[in-house]
Amino acid sequence: MSLFITFEGPEGSGKTTQIRLLADALTRRGLRVLATREPGGTRIGNAIRDLLLDSAHTEMSFRAETLLFQAARAQIVDEVIRPALAAGQVVLCDRYADSTLAYQGYGHGQTLEPLRRLGDYATNGLTPTLTIYLDIDVRAGLARKRAGAAEEWNRMENHALAFHQRVRDGYLALAAADRPRWLVIDAAQLAEAIHMQLRARIFALLAGEADAE
Ligand code: TYD
Repeated sequence: MSLFITFEGPEGSGKTTQIRLLADALTRRGLRVLATREPGGTRIGNAIRDLLLDSAHTEMSFRAETLLFQAARAQIVDEVIRPALAAGQVVLCDRYADSTLAYQGYGHGQTLEPLRRLGDYATNGLTPTLTIYLDIDVRAGLARKRAGAAEEWNRMENHALAFHQRVRDGYLALAAADRPRWLVIDAAQLAEAIHMQLRARIFALLAGEADAE
């Protein structure tokens, strides 16, 4: 059974923890799970990730940034995600095309339409079955991230608080516009409580798919 689930959220929303908990739960149910992340997940994607997130790259143009995210995305879709789905795996991806709409679109205040078209090109039209949005107050999320490993701090996080606020508002707008695909969860809760909520939704989804087969 193949299922494509993406995780989105502002900085420090706890996506990594939730992906780990969910991957374990699905594996225990006998499913084959592939967890990956953007930008990255492939050799080429990781090289692009280094270019994108290096804090020294202060001169990076907005369009170059957008295209690099999309290039890493095209690579992971072709090399990792589509083959895994074709092999019947459940794919959990930490960030996907919605990140570009939230960060480069809402965050940088750019119109969404060209970004959507580029996203369609990069993904070749591959849309997630479900997108889990972990919603967190921007200050709380950044503080959480700062308290974590220093090497995780990157160029995107150097943006002003107002930028991250626009990103969060953007995510909420994207989720409101496409309710069936998005599951919005309050990420201020304890990790285990969050896990139970998203797990309930995904297990229901799996039961529905099994019935349909
Ligand atoms: P990362 O360390 O992976 O952050 P996180 O753990 O929050 O996912 O860094 C990825 C950064 O890149 C993060 O700040 C979000 C940003 N980003 C974009 O701006 N656009 C995109 O399309 C993607 C995929 C990520």
